[in-house]
Amino acid sequence: MPTRSVPRSRVDALPRALRFPDNFLWGVGTSAHQVEGGVDLDGRGPSIWDTFAARGGTRHGDSGAMAADHRRRMADDVALLARLGVPAYRFSVAWPRVQPTGRGPASQAGLDFYRALVDELLAHGVEPVVTLYHWDLPQALEDAGGWPVRDTAYRFADYAGLVADALGDRARRWGTVNEPWCAAMLGYAAGVHAPGRTEPGAAVAAAHHLLLAHGLGVDVLRGRLSPGAEVGITLNPYPVVTAGTSDADLDAARRIDGIANRLWYDPVLRGRYPEDVLDDLSTVSDLAHVRDGDLGVVSRPIDVLGLNYYRRYHVSYERGASAVSPWPGSPDVSVAAPDEPATANGWRIEPDGLYESLVRLVTDYDPPPLVVHESGGAFPDAVGPHGRVEDGDRIRFLDAHLRAAHDAVAAGVDLRGYFVWSFLDNFEWAEGYAHRFGLVHVDYATQARTPKASAEWFGGVVAANGLPPASPLPPGPDGGEP
Ligand code: FCB
Repeated sequence: MPTRSVPRSRVDALPRALRFPDNFLWGVGTSAHQVEGGVDLDGRGPSIWDTFAARGGTRHGDSGAMAADHRRRMADDVALLARLGVPAYRFSVAWPRVQPTGRGPASQAGLDFYRALVDELLAHGVEPVVTLYHWDLPQALEDAGGWPVRDTAYRFADYAGLVADALGDRARRWGTVNEPWCAAMLGYAAGVHAPGRTEPGAAVAAAHHLLLAHGLGVDVLRGRLSPGAEVGITLNPYPVVTAGTSDADLDAARRIDGIANRLWYDPVLRGRYPEDVLDDLSTVSDLAHVRDGDLGVVSRPIDVLGLNYYRRYHVSYERGASAVSPWPGSPDVSVAAPDEPATANGWRIEPDGLYESLVRLVTDYDPPPLVVHESGGAFPDAVGPHGRVEDGDRIRFLDAHLRAAHDAVAAGVDLRGYFVWSFLDNFEWAEGYAHRFGLVHVDYATQARTPKASAEWFGGVVAANGLPPASPLPPGPDGGEP
């Protein structure tokens, strides 16, 4: 069913000076391939994103070869995080830096880098939050079939064990897979992300194997981490809405909600696939990749569910609109281009969708505690004449999303943390370096870091554990952008 929408106006007597719960975890995030560069170090093997970029899959041929050069600048970057007053840092481990071909023994140098990163974070009082898979599959595993092949899930479990053995004595918070919808559907159905395949049936199998990898990974982590460790997965909810009233429009919304949301929530939180989604997917897949017992593994209890929220999907029925798309088995759906206001990469700004996503989870499911693992926006930031980046639009964006998150807390959602995407400007996948999401500006020619106004603002939010009654936000475009 399309996302149940609970109007925020129903939330009673909201305090406008927003304080978040005690021990709320504030942080910022990155992922390995988006910031590290250093692709020639540690014996790292190629990933599907190196190959995809080399084959012209990204804007301007941009690649992650240099990115924000974080592999070399790690110590300075951690010191900067600490100076900004950020309590927690969510990063990912690059599988091909740890296992260059995705199988076999670990590269000691690769593991040493992540041990050094975690040690540096801890030395600065910053809590590490480890993600094992943020899309950079070793190319050798793709050559063997990639995520559509079941063996890839078992290779992931081995890799998870290697990382757990190396970091388990020092990192307490762990995530298996980041946004499996993107990895499966953008990578194997729409072909707009690596590895760039447009095979709907393979995408459906990839989705299952990513979920299986998550479940196998949970088992491995439980076996190797200390009992106090926290293990979860990070999904990306999209409230799905339609302006249409026809049965076909409503069915389009049901289908997209099915693939974007319920295809992930139901197996992880209920141990089964939704029947209507299986029906839709069965037009492109015989579903023979789902074996007895798999869903028991996929639904292993988790301690935390990470959510990355960016926008809603506005959909309608349109014959033949999505023949090649991230919606396997649903070729007649169109997803609307945004009206204003939108971010620099054209995503509509809809903070209410964050509220809806959080409330929906507790209304429709019985989830573990939730953490917003990513929330942020791309804006056309530039370093001004006095060396400052005045990103008032990002501050307004984050302020609105934090208010939505707080409304969800007031409505009873057990939300434990909020991570801004991103710490640094970085390699935005197929968009290359066209869009800046960072709280810290990166000059890619010199690799100079310049904290933006939003970084200072966020430090204030952290220090206050919330927002002041009326945030002293910079004036919007109408009031004259500073
Ligand atoms: C999310 C990804 C993250 C980043 C943001 C903008 O889908 O998890 O790596 O690209 O989008």
